[in-house]
Amino acid sequence: MTADCGTLHFEEAARVTVVPYADGLIALCTTAIAAPEGPEARARERRQAEHAAGQYALITSLAALGVHAGPPDRRPDGSPRPPPGTLVSISHRFPYAVAAAWKAHGRPPQHCRILGVGVDIEQEGTIPENAVHLVCSPVERPGLCATPGWADPTRVFSGKEAAYKADPQWRSQRFAPRRLRLRPLGPRLALAHSAAGPADATSVVASRQVGGYWISLCITLTAARPSRLYR
Ligand SMILES: CC(C)(COP(=O)(O)OP(=O)(O)OC[C@H]1O[C@@H](n2cnc3c(N)ncnc32)[C@H](O)[C@@H]1OP(=O)(O)O)[C@@H](O)C(=O)NCCC(=O)NCCS
Repeated sequence: MTADCGTLHFEEAARVTVVPYADGLIALCTTAIAAPEGPEARARERRQAEHAAGQYALITSLAALGVHAGPPDRRPDGSPRPPPGTLVSISHRFPYAVAAAWKAHGRPPQHCRILGVGVDIEQEGTIPENAVHLVCSPVERPGLCATPGWADPTRVFSGKEAAYKADPQWRSQRFAPRRLRLRPLGPRLALAHSAAGPADATSVVASRQVGGYWISLCITLTAARPSRLYR
């Protein structure tokens, strides 16, 4: 992921990765946001550029899965409305935007059923150590501190925002990071429980550090029920 902010068009920096995941494929696109930098840049212009870059990243992710769509509508909760047969998510933190898209193979699910995907990007150090209590509840901190790499409050915050966006039950509520409790799941984290969704729903969170930013991806899934097809 590279960017020369202010001069580079985001199309030039788009990077997309496609990997098989749970009866389908998931594509993750990162792109630079082309926007004027500095105090003279108006907030509204920057916001428009971030939104456009997020949409471009999503269109690129979908195209990598063979889905050719225009800019997505918004759902009433603010999330992007996915094209039929897909699940999508967008995040932007100047100067980068990221998007994730998942598409089923088209067959009934064999192993698990995907309910949502969520993506988030945060600059390293956004949440200082002394503000960790705003992100984590006291009950979840020991588990996070014992999981290599997950003591970083910015990483945890990013994982929680991705989990919020991935879970259809959470994303219609206000985002409150302490209420989304993460627990260790091997090298990854999982949401301790879904807000009000199926009892067997699990949200799995992974993240990686790229050029001073944390990028988190979350997949919310349930056990497959042969009678239920993807919507
Ligand atoms: C979702 C939210 C936490 C993301 O905040 P953020 O850190 O500023 O932004 P990010 O860059 O990571 O993500 C922004 C993108 O998330 C998506 N998004 C917005 N709301 C969303 C939601 N509820 N669920 C999932 N994705 C959402 C949008 O694509 C948005 O980009 P866009 O506005 O350019 O289209 C924030 O927008 C929020 O709190 N929204 C309010 C949701 C709410 O209160 N819902 C209850 C009433 S319906």
